Amino acid sequence: MRIRTIEPEEIGVIRERAARWWGGSYDSDMFSKWYVHHFRDTCLAAEIGGELAGFVMGFCSQTEPDSAYIRIVMVSPEHRGGGVGRALYEAFFERVTARGRSVVRCVTAPHKANSLAFHAKLGFRMEPQAEERDGLPVAVDYDGRGGERVVLVKRLA
Ligand SMILES: CC(C)(COP(=O)(O)OP(=O)(O)OC[C@H]1O[C@@H](n2cnc3c(N)ncnc32)[C@H](O)[C@@H]1OP(=O)(O)O)[C@@H](O)C(=O)NCCC(=O)NCCS
Repeated sequence: MRIRTIEPEEIGVIRERAARWWGGSYDSDMFSKWYVHHFRDTCLAAEIGGELAGFVMGFCSQTEPDSAYIRIVMVSPEHRGGGVGRALYEAFFERVTARGRSVVRCVTAPHKANSLAFHAKLGFRMEPQAEERDGLPVAVDYDGRGGERVVLVKRLA
């Protein structure tokens, strides 16, 4: 497996794979050349046999100088459970540590059991919130668009 940065020119491929791997439409401003250009060091692809097997996209926060944020991680269905997600996260942790970051955050929807299990294995814990949904702490209106999210946090050693 090879982990490398995503090039702005390949964002069309990433966008197409994201939609396919997600199992439904998944478009976002983040799947743009400008995003990869400005956050190149924290936008990583995993290749197996020269083929794209997964990707992670995030950034170092300007507002919280000690923290980094993972916006999305996705692994192709045929490679799930094979360590690609872990390898992408570990490469991300290494890069943001080199930039002086000691905390990584990301969010997931409370119903996403696979994502919650993956993040728990990678050492993330759920941040306490004022509200709970089905026993899980949720940040209400996390995105200013009505979405409820579990906020996951990991301290880097
Ligand atoms: C979540 C996702 C990125 C995990 O990637 P992956 O390559 O399958 O994960 P890995 O094989 O590296 O697994 C890392 C650890 O998490 C565990 N894990 C991964 N998926 C799991 C699941 N569905 N249930 C339980 N444990 C899981 C693995 O057992 C492994 O544990 P170990 O290293 O201690 O043996 C992948 O399943 C995916 O792309 N899902 C669809 C997109 C998605 O949900 N993204 C997250 C959105 S917030």
